[in-house]
Amino acid sequence: MRGRLIAVEGSEGSGKTTQAQRLAEALGAVFTREPGGTQLGEQIRNLLLGTDGDAPCDRAEALLMAAARAQHVDRVVAPALAGGNDVVTDRYIGSSLAYQGAGRGLGVAAVAAVSAFAVDGVEADLVVLLDVDAATAASRLEGSLDRIEQAGEEFHARVAEAYRDLAAADPQRWLVVDGSGSIDEVARRLQAAVAERLA
Ligand code: TYD
Repeated sequence: MRGRLIAVEGSEGSGKTTQAQRLAEALGAVFTREPGGTQLGEQIRNLLLGTDGDAPCDRAEALLMAAARAQHVDRVVAPALAGGNDVVTDRYIGSSLAYQGAGRGLGVAAVAAVSAFAVDGVEADLVVLLDVDAATAASRLEGSLDRIEQAGEEFHARVAEAYRDLAAADPQRWLVVDGSGSIDEVARRLQAAVAERLA
């Protein structure tokens, strides 16, 4: 039987990476991330998030995200699913829709078309949106900020709003989980909600 693909989405500082890892462990799923997850994808990630050199223009950013995603699907996600493994990915198509589509203003429909080409039919069975308010997210951001984290408050407000709109528009696929509280509290809440959906 084909495995299930679960994407964990959210703004910077939502605690998404930690929760995605915990979820993968709990499900015995393959854990992976975007942009990245393959050698080429991690190289593309460095190009995308680095703060020195020539910053990609918005369209180049969208296409590089999609290129990393195509490689990730082809080399990691699709083979794992075909082998019957569940996969938890830290970010997937939703990130491109929210960050490039809404945040950069390229348009959600245009970016959805690029992502559709990249994933060639491999859609997430469940998309978990870890929702935190802007103040909580800001308080969790630490260390030096990467190029996209530096994009500013208005950009990040557009991203957060787009995520909520995407989840509201497709409640069958999206699950919104309150990301406030301790790591353990959120993990319990998230894993219980996912188990109920996947049952
Ligand atoms: P993330 O791995 O969450 O960074 P960190 O580990 O520092 O929290 O995400 C990397 C960045 O890439 C994040 O700013 C969101 C951005 N991103 C997009 O803009 N579009 C995409 O399609 C993806 C997958 C990520």
